[in-house]
Amino acid sequence: MTKIKIKKTKKSRIKETDFDHLEFGEQFSDHMFITEYGDGTWNDPRIIPFGKLSFLPSLTVLHYGQAVFEGLKAYLTANGGVNLFRADKNHERLNMSCERLCIPPVPLDLFMEALKKLVAIDRAWIPNKRGNSLYIRPFIFATDDYIGVRVSKTYAFIIFTSPVGAYYKEGLNPVKLITSGGYSRAVIGGLGEAKTPANYAASLLPAEEAKKQGFTQVLWLDAIEKKYIEEVGTMNIMFLINDVLITPPLEGSILGGITRDTVLTLASHWGVKIEERRISIEEVIEKAKSGALQEVFGTGTAAVISPVGWIQHMEEMVTINKGGIGHFSQRLYDEITGIQYGEKPDIFGWCYQV
Ligand code: COI
Repeated sequence: MTKIKIKKTKKSRIKETDFDHLEFGEQFSDHMFITEYGDGTWNDPRIIPFGKLSFLPSLTVLHYGQAVFEGLKAYLTANGGVNLFRADKNHERLNMSCERLCIPPVPLDLFMEALKKLVAIDRAWIPNKRGNSLYIRPFIFATDDYIGVRVSKTYAFIIFTSPVGAYYKEGLNPVKLITSGGYSRAVIGGLGEAKTPANYAASLLPAEEAKKQGFTQVLWLDAIEKKYIEEVGTMNIMFLINDVLITPPLEGSILGGITRDTVLTLASHWGVKIEERRISIEEVIEKAKSGALQEVFGTGTAAVISPVGWIQHMEEMVTINKGGIGHFSQRLYDEITGIQYGEKPDIFGWCYQV
């Protein structure tokens, strides 16, 4: 068992937090977990008050982006308990991202122990309103003071938490997407399947342009042919066509979302036919025109299930399900959040009680 030292804050900030109007990612709980890597091991794991860190301008990560992160949530359950959802999958993906970024892996027991202790200490920060939760952000970054391009020898691994509401201002209402035009997010062999800041940096300019045109987010097409649908950057994407659930395969350029896996597992359990295959934007437009396209939705930890009501591709605008929330999207949202909030049976053993 990992021994984590604890130093509690002398002054909680919880009273300054407006739990009735939570936006995504603006408020931070009282404590954070931190451990530093050096000499081949993670040292001195501890929970301390959330606060500023001090680094020199020569910090490697600031120059070359050697960093990875994760996102998961804790939920206050119907019977007053606390659920962490599929944290083992976040650990697995964190270490997969670490490998791609030449960052040393984090042992499972350290990851789980840190999560559970941190969430337990800041339990009062978990919102008690349905739809809200405590977002947890684990991340690792290179901390050598060196500006040559090479793998860092030292790292910091930090976890902090944030009480959140819906990620998109639309909530469960359908979002509007526009295809990526001349921009690309990632190529096979690049960083696309790793959860690393560079992928999000690549999305900023296209997302800004999309927002200026009235869209919520960019729907990324593949970088080579600009034809096949990849993901939305903040979520994976799925299509319900003729009662078949279709989603792009994990071939290296898109993130292997945990909510994506959750949806595929549930849908298959419900007897829905699933196809993980390439799907082109032309096919989506054609299926929309023929009436075969029933629903489109994004999946993600932050976004949960996010119905898509409109997709713009070049001159063409497709409206899905009359811009409303589809039955299948709603069923998935209800089932997933039902399990997370402890209202529905957790038959796959996805929840960890804190
Ligand atoms: C998540 O869904 O947890 C994400 O990391 C997406 C975004 C907030 C970066």
